[in-house]
Amino acid sequence: MTGADVRHRFPGVRDGWARFDGPAGTQMVDVAIRAASEWSASGNNANTHGTFAAANATDDLLERARGVVAQLLDADPQSVVFGANMTTLTFAFTRAVARTLQPGDRVVGTRLDHDANVSPWRIACEESGAEHVLAPFSTVDGRLDMDALAALITPNTKWVAVTGASNLIGTMPDVKAVVALAHRVGARVFVDAVHLAPHMPVSVRDIGCDVLATSPYKWYGPHAGVLCIEPNLLNALPVAKVRPADDVGPRRFETGTPNFENIAATEAAARYLLEEDMASVAAYEQEVFAPLLNGLLAMAHVRVWGSPTLEARTPTVAFTVDGVSPDRVAEALAAAKIAVWSGSSYAVELVSHLGLTESGGVVRAGVVRYVTHDDVQRLLSVVQSLA
Ligand SMILES: Cc1ncc(COP(=O)(O)O)c(C=O)c1O
Repeated sequence: MTGADVRHRFPGVRDGWARFDGPAGTQMVDVAIRAASEWSASGNNANTHGTFAAANATDDLLERARGVVAQLLDADPQSVVFGANMTTLTFAFTRAVARTLQPGDRVVGTRLDHDANVSPWRIACEESGAEHVLAPFSTVDGRLDMDALAALITPNTKWVAVTGASNLIGTMPDVKAVVALAHRVGARVFVDAVHLAPHMPVSVRDIGCDVLATSPYKWYGPHAGVLCIEPNLLNALPVAKVRPADDVGPRRFETGTPNFENIAATEAAARYLLEEDMASVAAYEQEVFAPLLNGLLAMAHVRVWGSPTLEARTPTVAFTVDGVSPDRVAEALAAAKIAVWSGSSYAVELVSHLGLTESGGVVRAGVVRYVTHDDVQRLLSVVQSLA
């Protein structure tokens, strides 16, 4: 399998840019682009729970899309909730959770997490009088400090919010071990799989978490968000909903009329990944990523943050260049038609824990399915030239 094999499926990469900005959002795959436009043109654009054919087709779309996304994530279709993006869904979720928290309760998070899995919980704790604490990670190898996390998960802990993979340094914590620690004290677990799901096979059943979040626009789909909420929890949560909306099932959480055209595209993107097979995607990305990581590690003027190995990580690397700010490095790369992000990428706790806030964070380069070996060599030669 080579990157070039699939590049023709991504109209967005025809312009010669090397796209290492995948962790912030990927180019859409052809079938997802078509699905949104075909749905819009189909005449099926209606609303749910009607008596006529287009309304029935709209119901079918929702059911089919939940099924395909559930297959991709090995989850219960009745747990799949669609929404605008992960952040909006997570805020809606934590607003409901806040109504179940009280002073004396605790929510545990991590400093590895994107702020979308930190601030919603912090605010829910502020509003309910619960305590919000964050587990640290090793500044040497980027690993989550499991001993510190275990010590923080006390009997009064109600929720543990943990990332499936850091969107900045790629670290993949052992989420199954986190779930075991949390469930032992009766706490529930929210896994942010936004950065994990594009790169690795994900099984909600195997992880055993109560909630898992992902964003289809990180895996070649449209700008949208998905939460898998364990059905009993979903039905019991005191969500803010209008009275006529369903009282049970995913629709009780999906406020208002869903974004049907994006849901059609989400279904198509999930089908694409099922056809590609996530284990093959992971293997391909690893093969392209290895020379990127090793090439950066070999440069004396470059510092790689997080793990220096390929183990338990996504193909995403954060680095800094001696004497050149992350923004200037990103500009030099952009001048050569290479897209990367600089700064914190919203992983503000992580950047602060590494002591990099004042110096402008890091440069982040992420490999996704359409990035090639040639793209990697181009990036390495520009970074080399900054010595
Ligand atoms: C790990 C992680 N979590 C959460 C988010 C927020 O996702 P969304 O843009 O869907 O709200 C991102 C976006 O970059 C992310 O990388």
